[in-house]
Amino acid sequence: MSQLDVFRLDGRVAMVAGGGGAIGSAIAAALAGAGARVTVVDQTDERAEAAAGAIRAAGAEVLALGADVTDDAGCERVVAATLERFGRLDIHVNAVGGGAGKVLFDAEAYPRDAWDWIYELNVRSTLCATQAAARAMIAGGRGGRVLNISSVRANLGINAGYSAYVAAKGAISSLTRQWATEWAKHGITVNAIAPTFVDTPQVAMLLDDPVFKAGLVSRIPLGRVGGTSDLTGAAIFLCSDASSFVTGQILGIDGGLTATQ
Ligand SMILES: NC(=O)c1ccc[n+]([C@@H]2O[C@H](COP(=O)([O-])OP(=O)(O)OC[C@H]3O[C@@H](n4cnc5c(N)ncnc54)[C@H](O)[C@@H]3O)[C@@H](O)[C@H]2O)c1
Repeated sequence: MSQLDVFRLDGRVAMVAGGGGAIGSAIAAALAGAGARVTVVDQTDERAEAAAGAIRAAGAEVLALGADVTDDAGCERVVAATLERFGRLDIHVNAVGGGAGKVLFDAEAYPRDAWDWIYELNVRSTLCATQAAARAMIAGGRGGRVLNISSVRANLGINAGYSAYVAAKGAISSLTRQWATEWAKHGITVNAIAPTFVDTPQVAMLLDDPVFKAGLVSRIPLGRVGGTSDLTGAAIFLCSDASSFVTGQILGIDGGLTATQ
């Protein structure tokens, strides 16, 4: 047996909410590459299938499902379909979220509708999908892994109209610790990764601005913006036996940005 076997996910089943997105699809592919069978969930069948098709082409077993994960019934449906297809659920990843760049407002006038939208997209999606997944893991009696995506913005303010997003990511980090505490008795670990800007379509407009990008990179000790592949090793670690004694942790993946604050 190799030391690396603790990172393998053979026999495990993972569900990735937002698996059609930039970060979600990279994580779904990485978990499949480590041996997991994967359910990719996204807003539409087409979006889920686009990511699932690439994973299937690489030889893994994958189920693509369209669902709104801010809706409890949709979450119950995708968990039930996963159990029906694969017989178990071991890993749940919440990769739905973001939106900050679309609703930038001064803190003193942050509009309620924008606030509610950011909370719906980031917090409610994570809440609904995780509750449904956790109920299946608890019923399965084999423990499990939940991986959330927070952000360095849970801890760092940014002078750019981000009130709702920083609050939502703070909630994700707090829920990570709370769920880790409550579900430890079921053998379920709950952790989060907290990236700074990752080079994805969500933040393309900001990163396309050379002044913004230069300012950002100058604050990152490793001297570059991250890519989705910078997140996948940590995701495999936090979803595998390699992290058996790690729970309630928020792992910064930020090139050292938060180390300087
Ligand atoms: N991109 C970054 O720079 C960055 C940095 C830090 C944290 N994050 C976080 O990473 C996560 C993923 O970001 P991304 O850049 O991959 O975004 P993305 O928009 O590429 O992916 C999100 C996916 O979620 C899906 N989705 C949205 N609402 C949904 C719903 N109600 N039901 C089902 N699916 C839904 C979208 O269709 C999309 O495919 C977010 O939580 C974001 O806040 C991103």
